[in-house]
Amino acid sequence: MEKKIFSGVQPTGNLHLGNYLGAIKNFVKLNNENQNECIFCVVDLHAITVAQDPKKLKDNIYETIATFIASGIDPEKSIIFSQSRVSAHSETAWILSCVARMGWLNRMTQFKDKAGKDKEKASIGLYSYPVLMAADILLYDTTHVPVGDDQKQHLELCRDIAQKFNNDFNVNGFFKIPEPLIQKNFSRIMSLRDGTKKMSKSELSDLSRINLTDDKDQIINKIKKSKTDTLLLPSSNTDLEKRPEAKNLISIYSNLMDVNLDDTINKFSGKNFSEFKEILSQVLVDKIIPISSEIKKLLKDKNYLDQILDKGQERSNKIASKKLKKIQEILGF
Ligand code: TYM
Repeated sequence: MEKKIFSGVQPTGNLHLGNYLGAIKNFVKLNNENQNECIFCVVDLHAITVAQDPKKLKDNIYETIATFIASGIDPEKSIIFSQSRVSAHSETAWILSCVARMGWLNRMTQFKDKAGKDKEKASIGLYSYPVLMAADILLYDTTHVPVGDDQKQHLELCRDIAQKFNNDFNVNGFFKIPEPLIQKNFSRIMSLRDGTKKMSKSELSDLSRINLTDDKDQIINKIKKSKTDTLLLPSSNTDLEKRPEAKNLISIYSNLMDVNLDDTINKFSGKNFSEFKEILSQVLVDKIIPISSEIKKLLKDKNYLDQILDKGQERSNKIASKKLKKIQEILGF
């Protein structure tokens, strides 16, 4: 069966190893499978749910597009575009916000995390953000959505919204119910400073993450300084349960090398961390430096990136505006 793939990444700077291993690496794999139709979106409307400096946002949009291409997404084969340029996304989000229920959104843990203690001061956009995400996905009749584990709840909400719309307007099957594609073992890459916290762009300490634009010395230094415990590397998976930092580093190695966790555990069992960290740094340098060099090269050619954005806009707008027209007919507009 042909899969229709859609996913998005926020252009908020500091794209990191978590974004790469949890999502972008999977985008590349799906892009390379012949039967798939893939759409990858720079979700700049999602980015403005928190304050952004317009100049930096523009740079970050270019950087996200460059990261997609540098990681191996082929812009001829897949559609790469920016969300704000296709107005059907915002229009559909409004319509779907009249379908989604407050009770559903109140359960979203990411809003609670991001809004923090002072919910009153969070933007309304931050609250209704998963509804815009549902619009992104449903406009393209998406069948599969590759994401990291942190987006699972938003996808469940998207499925609920699609189902309710289909039921309310008696249009069974109009919105396809999308399946999440979340990797089983390594769907959440953790901070290098605290193995219980997700690796994230917003974490203050840059030492907590490997950025996709880091150079060799930065990568080596961050792995050297990454938090570990004083024990040797474990001999079984169960030994990892109470050792989140060890588990994270072993998961990163396994994901980068495309091997399973047990094989990595067997390979390094009984070794000390300094030896393992040296090998892990080398693997990271081998995988990340070609991407980071390519990002830097692409960023020097804004004309090329503008062409990608123009073409992506044209291709995605064709699909999205057609679907929106049907939505409007269903509603009686
Ligand atoms: P965003 O920009 O926060 O993250 C982009 C992708 O990276 C994954 N990710 C991680 N995976 C593993 N470990 C981590 N530490 C880690 N950090 C981030 C995220 O799960 C995501 O897949 N709401 C989305 C963007 C979005 C979207 C969409 C996604 C908007 N519309 C439609 C899919 C379909 C977000 O903020 O991702």
